[in-house]
Amino acid sequence: MSSTIKHIGVFTSGGDSPGMNAALYAIAKTAEAHKIKLSGIRKGYEGMIDGDFIALKTNELQKNVHRGGTLLKTARSQRFLTLKGRQTALQQLHKHKIDALVAIGGDGTFRGLLSFSEICELPFIGIPGTIDNDLSGTDFTLGFDSAVNTAIENIDKIRDTAESHNRIFLIEVMGRDAGYIAINSGLATGANSILIPESKEDFLYLLDKVKRYDSEEAFIVVIAEGDELSADYVSTKIREIDNKVDLRITRLGHVQRGGNPSASDRMLGIRLGAFAVTELLKEKKNVMAGILNNQLCLTPFEQVVKQHQLNGELQSLLKMFSN
Ligand code: F6P
Repeated sequence: MSSTIKHIGVFTSGGDSPGMNAALYAIAKTAEAHKIKLSGIRKGYEGMIDGDFIALKTNELQKNVHRGGTLLKTARSQRFLTLKGRQTALQQLHKHKIDALVAIGGDGTFRGLLSFSEICELPFIGIPGTIDNDLSGTDFTLGFDSAVNTAIENIDKIRDTAESHNRIFLIEVMGRDAGYIAINSGLATGANSILIPESKEDFLYLLDKVKRYDSEEAFIVVIAEGDELSADYVSTKIREIDNKVDLRITRLGHVQRGGNPSASDRMLGIRLGAFAVTELLKEKKNVMAGILNNQLCLTPFEQVVKQHQLNGELQSLLKMFSN
């Protein structure tokens, strides 16, 4: 494959997610196979602005495929939101003679690339790396499966204590504005109620169920952090129905972002990493590499960052299991 691209820069940006290291390994391995130079840009757009570029060693990455987080480190950059920040980043890319970029990140990362493309001619390709699964153009984002598994493991543990005390537990899970982690972890743990931002009726089902609640068992509610109702508000409303209920609130928080990536996330990272480099060498640009119906595919950034939709099947399951 002959290409004008001789030197690729890769970075991870936004919230880290399990599987990012697997993707980095596959990118390094594929670049090596095509005799392309690869530089790592540390701390996302922050490192790009500061010229924090490093040589990536394939064998170092190989040893870390099983680890969560990102060896390249990551950041949420305020400076890159400014034109001055983006201009400085561009000067650094020219200075380091980078011909193309691979970005691993979420919605904010791709919005950043869209703005960058207004002043930067270099080709970019994205890999969806976020636990939230909130991007169009892919069925799964890197880290989502691992985060759901972590949430499930923890909810199962909470159920043990909840059943012992006959308590109501409100468990908040991550997902930013999307309810994917909540609906998947809630259904897979037999939660009594699941509250997600994509549904407005779910709270009414919850109140109805609480009215019928037999206090001789546990009652598990999984709430997406992006739901319009906070766990504290839901707790107040439940107590208005029965002020004697024994209720606790647990926020799973950043534990969901860490840990070893699942088998699915490792393989997704490997497949998308290799695919991103080969497509870049075929002159593809300003697209995200994703997986739809188990087929690797490319989607323009403009479409990727559009409002995501929770699929109809999950919506119906939510309704049936909430009643
Ligand atoms: O986008 C990933 C995510 O973990 C979201 O689920 C969460 O809302 C956010 O990042 C937390 O961000 P931070 O780590 O910057 O607090």
